[in-house]
Amino acid sequence: LASDAELGERILAAKAALGDRAVILGHFYQRDEVIQYADFVGDSFQLANAALTRPDAEAIVFCGVHFMAETADILSAPDQAVILPNLAAGCSMADMADADSVAECWEQLEEIFGTEPDAEGRVPVLPVTYMNSSAALKAFCGEHGGIVCTSSNARTVLEWAFQRAQRVLFFPDQHLGRNTAKALGVPLEQMLMWNPRKDLGGNDEQALLDSRVILWHGFCSVHKRFNVGQIEKARMDFPGVQVIVHPECPMDVVDAADSAGSTDFIKKAIAAATEPTTFAIGTEINMVNRLAAEYPQHTVFCLDPVICPCSTMYRIHPGYLAWVLEELVAGRVVNRITVAESVQDHARTALERMLAARP
Ligand code: 13P
Ligand code: SF4
Repeated sequence: LASDAELGERILAAKAALGDRAVILGHFYQRDEVIQYADFVGDSFQLANAALTRPDAEAIVFCGVHFMAETADILSAPDQAVILPNLAAGCSMADMADADSVAECWEQLEEIFGTEPDAEGRVPVLPVTYMNSSAALKAFCGEHGGIVCTSSNARTVLEWAFQRAQRVLFFPDQHLGRNTAKALGVPLEQMLMWNPRKDLGGNDEQALLDSRVILWHGFCSVHKRFNVGQIEKARMDFPGVQVIVHPECPMDVVDAADSAGSTDFIKKAIAAATEPTTFAIGTEINMVNRLAAEYPQHTVFCLDPVICPCSTMYRIHPGYLAWVLEELVAGRVVNRITVAESVQDHARTALERMLAARP
């Protein structure tokens, strides 16, 4: 097996040979051994935009997970190849909502609500999907008047949706949906979890009619590990600690924290602190460790004492990066992510609504 140093040399040599022909994007959750070679580092929203900024590059090498590479393929120029260094880098949350189950849910909702707008022109329900979902679900949203959100613009997107609809169906992440709706003042009684099992009673029809937000049952296995006990311990051990968590965390954790926001929000909050501060962070460990190293004037640690990387982000190993870059140098495109033509247009519509809804 090649050592990190050898792989580093191979990656740098391939990058030099490729020049502007390839651009490497890296999500904040990537390990340092990979992120050091990225041309752009950011959260999922920033990386979706970054994919638009280099139409000249033949290849976009996406060090992140599958749904991010799909989004880059939808937004990038048709002749650009988007490459995911390891095809096994998926997202367990994205896998929790499949297109058939969402379509079945939608059918049931249309049966109950109908499709007629109210006196203010608001349709009964609009679908909103978190970026962490398949291209097929983004296309579903595009086709049904809906929109995509990321953790950095979920509030703006929900406001956009409530201007056009009496309620939203939000998938796959129940926590981001609940936390964002709550921050907008939607009472908990008007949020309900979609229960697909008609044979087990299904959802109460009146509760659906009274709802403003219908939540899918998805969650992030990394962020669901955080709990209020960890926050209480951090506050006891470090009086004055600032607790910042990602909105994929459960609601009681977000409520107990000082603030919640996307990975970029967390980074900016630490960068903005003018006095030495202790930060306890509720998000993925690679990012937290990097922030701790980048801001030595502060104390930055992860709320979860057990190391918790995102296991799928971690599947992008520098060995895969070296391989896909060397193949490009040799004129071969491997691990290309291609979103089917039939899905591209509607998915792009939903993504473009998101980009336009930006404050
Ligand atoms: P952001 O990049 O939007 O903060 O999302 C975090 C995440 O879980 C990506 O999968
Ligand atoms: Fe998916 Fe969670 Fe990993 Fe993000 S951190 S890619 S939501 S499993």
